[in-house]
Amino acid sequence: MTMPAFDQTAPAAFAASYPEVPHKLAHGLVGHPLLTLEALAALGEALPAASVEYNKADLPVGLNGAKAPANGLGIGDTIRGIAETGSWAALKNIEQVPAYAELLMALLDELRPVIEARTGAMLKPQGFVFVTSPGGVTPYHFDPEHNVLLHLMGEKTMTLFPQGDAFYAPDETHEGYHTGGGRELFWRDELAAGGQEWSLQAGDGLFVPVMAPHFVRNGPKPAVSLSITWRSEWSFEEADARAFNGWLRRAGLRPSAPGRWPARSRIKAAGWRVVRRIRG
Ligand SMILES: [Fe+2]
Repeated sequence: MTMPAFDQTAPAAFAASYPEVPHKLAHGLVGHPLLTLEALAALGEALPAASVEYNKADLPVGLNGAKAPANGLGIGDTIRGIAETGSWAALKNIEQVPAYAELLMALLDELRPVIEARTGAMLKPQGFVFVTSPGGVTPYHFDPEHNVLLHLMGEKTMTLFPQGDAFYAPDETHEGYHTGGGRELFWRDELAAGGQEWSLQAGDGLFVPVMAPHFVRNGPKPAVSLSITWRSEWSFEEADARAFNGWLRRAGLRPSAPGRWPARSRIKAAGWRVVRRIRG
């Protein structure tokens, strides 16, 4: 990729909002040869099985403890036939394949000056691809990374909820997630009023803050998105402070949640790192 992928106004818009405010960024990746359905089917077949997740996509907004049913296909056929397979597929850590690592780093390098000026070193770059059938739903959940979702094909609506608010994601769920639990969140209809809908067309990007709860509804065509993600020392501290809080809570205390950026959680994070070391 020789041309910048992001619109020339994107870094300034990103600088005004990173790391806490969701916003759109235009990109020029639509039609990129590494991101066609055939290329992604081959990528899915090249990645280790542990890096590929797929299931039926005819799901409710909240799985609320249920497991998404399998679709009975292989990953390659799931993606090649995504128009008809009624599926959702995620390809994780695409940077395991060198051409995708190069693409991921080229994209992140365009945002790196803004990222590093705000949250310090850009850590643990990871790329994820999502391929979804018409009408598919990605149920309510949160993710630990700083994330720019680059939408490439079809249309989808991501409904985003405020990060760091226990009404949308209870502290105990954060603590469970950072000590080995899942990222799925329980849905109840009273949450709906707090959601902000982001309608994404091919060529739109969306910045998603760390741990901002969300669900995604696909439009009437097959959809493909690429998530480019990174961590910061701030995000690792927040995660470790949550894990430490879980440990305190199990000891009968009622710890306060870590503050959002720019608040730091150095002491609790250091506490968890000690606990982790002692436990081996
Ligand atoms: Fe997500």
